Amino acid sequence: MSTETQTQQRTDGDGADRQTLTVIDNRTGRTYELPIVDGTVRGLDLREIKTSEEDFGVMAYDPGYANVASCRSSVTYLDGEKGILQYRGYPIEQLAENSSYIEVAYLLVHGELPTPAELEEWTHQITIHTFVHENVKGFMQGFRHDAHPMGMLLGSVGALSTFYPDANNISDPENRYIQTIRLIAKMPTLAAFAFRHSNGQPYVYPDNDLRYAGNFLSMMYKMTELKYQPDPRLERALDVLFILHADHEQNCSTSAVRGVGSSRVDPYSALAGGIAALYGPLHGGANEAVLRMLHRIEHKENIPDFLRGVEEGKERLMGFGHRVYKNYDPRAKIIKAAADDVFEVVGKRNPLLDIALELEKIALGDEYFIEHKLYPNVDFYSGLIYEALGLPVEMFPVMFAIGRTSGWIANWLEQVQDPEQRIARPRQIYTGQRDRLYVPLEQR
Ligand code: ACO
Repeated sequence: MSTETQTQQRTDGDGADRQTLTVIDNRTGRTYELPIVDGTVRGLDLREIKTSEEDFGVMAYDPGYANVASCRSSVTYLDGEKGILQYRGYPIEQLAENSSYIEVAYLLVHGELPTPAELEEWTHQITIHTFVHENVKGFMQGFRHDAHPMGMLLGSVGALSTFYPDANNISDPENRYIQTIRLIAKMPTLAAFAFRHSNGQPYVYPDNDLRYAGNFLSMMYKMTELKYQPDPRLERALDVLFILHADHEQNCSTSAVRGVGSSRVDPYSALAGGIAALYGPLHGGANEAVLRMLHRIEHKENIPDFLRGVEEGKERLMGFGHRVYKNYDPRAKIIKAAADDVFEVVGKRNPLLDIALELEKIALGDEYFIEHKLYPNVDFYSGLIYEALGLPVEMFPVMFAIGRTSGWIANWLEQVQDPEQRIARPRQIYTGQRDRLYVPLEQR
């Protein structure tokens, strides 16, 4: 709202609350009463505020959609001020402690925790869809030896739409369901193929005797042994990481999935859009950036100098800050604990962890970070775990994408069934020139 408008919540003479916003347009002196529903005013209601009949009407200007609710959703609840994250109403802490990623994926997609029979069927369905068409393998082999695995994942998920052309029949619930299963099942396979490709190693086919995370470890690390036996502690740590990354309401990549999906394209193409968004350093690439930053800091003694540079605005403390959390990210606490388990299994403590812990300690007591409400986010510690698992930094956003797949698809499913949703098509404030006369080339 501009400073010229005034908002107030009035009470009628009879004492009943009026859930409206009264706006006075000081340009015309007119007063408008806009309904407030669920704490929001309809963007299109602002259009009624005009200086004349020809006037387009007032729009909301909000680059980055910092204060726009783009949908109604019952998937994930987030209170950034209080540091609360819940999937379908269940606190993330309880899910991370008691659940498996597959169960959480069921919860996100269906809205309820499964019964034992439902979980068995869901697990079976996901397990039998882990294989990809041989031509997908051939497609991946076409990438350069040094291709970024996230780029490979992005390309190959998009390519899946050509392997399942019926996926564009998005109005059919059964069709949506099979694509949902395929996406959750095949994402680790594609991710592991991308990893093996970068290493110049042969791809390992899924082992359907193993659980979701164990099978992923097998496809990543199996060498000549007949059967790969995943360490249950590593399996559990991976499962927890996938759970923590599974959804985060309308973040950049989920908004991208919804934005692309709003054109009613197939879910593979929509999720490829999400993967592209996650590729960026401010989103899924942040844990990669954290590791690079920790390597660069190198010694604890260099931390004060580094933080001075951050305060002077020369760079950012990666893994800190969040658009929504203005408190400790609840996922960061859980990840910090999981890191210790992983270090125990791999038998060595990553010295970068000590730099990270010290960095966190100093930053949390520093005026700049307190004032800006900057706390560690999920990516501050996740990279350290991935590094301990022997993953190169390029694989970090890929790991994020595997977990986030269930959240993307849950949001996509919700969107395509929401009668209020329309094609995403924002407006702009045009700042360019107008009505210019074309000048022929020879006269320029
Ligand atoms: N280090 C230093 N200063 C920061 C940081 C940071 N990591 N994050 C924000 N700030 C400061 C900004 O300089 C700005 O200061 P100012 O008001 O004095 O100009 C203020 O805090 C607000 O920052 P914005 O960039 O406007 O906040 P926004 O909500 O747009 O950005 C973001 C959020 C992108 C996550 C940001 O905090 C950031 O860049 N963090 C580092 C990257 C990162 O860790 N990303 C992972 C996010 S979690 C995820 O995607 C899973």
